[in-house]
Amino acid sequence: MAIFAESGSVVLFYNNDPNLSEPMKSVIEKTLSQEAIEREERFGAHNYHPIPVVIERGEGVFVWDVEGKKYFDFLSAYSALNQGHNHPKIVGALIQQLKTLSLTSRAFYNNVLGEYEEFITRFFGYDKVLPMNSGAEGVETAMKLARRWAYVRKGVPENEAKIIVADGNFHGRTITIISASTDPDSYGNFGPFTPGFIKIPFNDAEALKAALKDKNVAAFLIEPIQGEAGVVIPDDGYLSACYEACKEANVLFIADEVQSGLGRTGKMLACDHEGVHPDVLILGKALSGGLLPISAVLADDDIMLTIHPGQHGSTYGGNPLADKVAIAALQVLQDEKLSENAERLGKILLKELKAISHPMIQLVRGKGLFCAMVIKPANGKDAWDLCLALKENGLLAKPTHGDIIRFAPPLIITEDQLNECIQIIRNTISSF
Ligand SMILES: Cc1ncc(COP(=O)(O)O)c(C=O)c1O
Repeated sequence: MAIFAESGSVVLFYNNDPNLSEPMKSVIEKTLSQEAIEREERFGAHNYHPIPVVIERGEGVFVWDVEGKKYFDFLSAYSALNQGHNHPKIVGALIQQLKTLSLTSRAFYNNVLGEYEEFITRFFGYDKVLPMNSGAEGVETAMKLARRWAYVRKGVPENEAKIIVADGNFHGRTITIISASTDPDSYGNFGPFTPGFIKIPFNDAEALKAALKDKNVAAFLIEPIQGEAGVVIPDDGYLSACYEACKEANVLFIADEVQSGLGRTGKMLACDHEGVHPDVLILGKALSGGLLPISAVLADDDIMLTIHPGQHGSTYGGNPLADKVAIAALQVLQDEKLSENAERLGKILLKELKAISHPMIQLVRGKGLFCAMVIKPANGKDAWDLCLALKENGLLAKPTHGDIIRFAPPLIITEDQLNECIQIIRNTISSF
């Protein structure tokens, strides 16, 4: 609905009014789009800076804005939509469970949680799972588990446990997590911070070995590929060298696969590229295929059973809706061979992006359908301007850290669709 002042009088229009002329409709719809943006600006906290597109509908690899314009989604909600928008099997599982039971809290048992726990632990090869909601909660859970394990199993003196993290990490937004961050945008003016972190350079196994000399280290927490930093990929052999070093030092290797996991890089987990089975695995995002916030921490009994009733949890963690959704989301990844699709199409995407020659392209990198382009500003135009132009041409992407554009479509994308997207990216960049 929109209100217009016409010839001195106020006229009320509905944009689906059949009597409206096309030019009038477009004016009204444009106004609706602006209205939505202005409303968010007015009533919402300014903690995001979105690309100016107002999405109304999503299906598979596509979204539509309120003007009805169709776009390829090349961000996939930061890889939460690996299975595509509204995957019918995941939506079906949600609706079916919704009719029966949504939430019990963990004060009582329910008839679904055990099914999910058995499913996901067998799927990833762990004794136990601890279900949470957001990715950040998953990371917090893993940090608490690591500290607890250090005190009750490793014998670290009380309150002395440390966790090693990598420069450039992104593990979420809580106070403790930002205490581990090296990005001033994340931690600036949010202190005082949680102590107990050792920060070392990413992709430097020697730095890890040096840090592991500290006997109070509980864990090494690492993103196998740094997503928010701009798809920063370590050298081959880095993860396995780190894993070995952790084993030698009796330190837990914790993989945050919230963004890099679940098929995105061409394997179910990014750690699978190096045959590394983390002691603690953190999953989120695509664990629900974009339907609900669902995260999970997986570990074996020796670690997981150090937490006892009343010592950690979440009201919604492991709710029946989430359980059914997560089972369906994982099943879809497996049945539709989405890792394999990411591996095959990722090679095409990377090759074609690298083949684009343009002075604004400084670097292209990627693994599977997890790619990024580092943009060098030219003639007053930067990565943001490029993303705006991509949007005009029907493809949605967003810069991270100002100069890096991530290209991460849903893994269900077909080769024809991918080629169409590559053409859009090529044409858009050429126009600069
Ligand atoms: C690697 C990683 N860990 C944790 C998180 C936090 O997840 P959430 O936003 O669901 O809290 C993110 C989010 O982007 C992430 O990329």
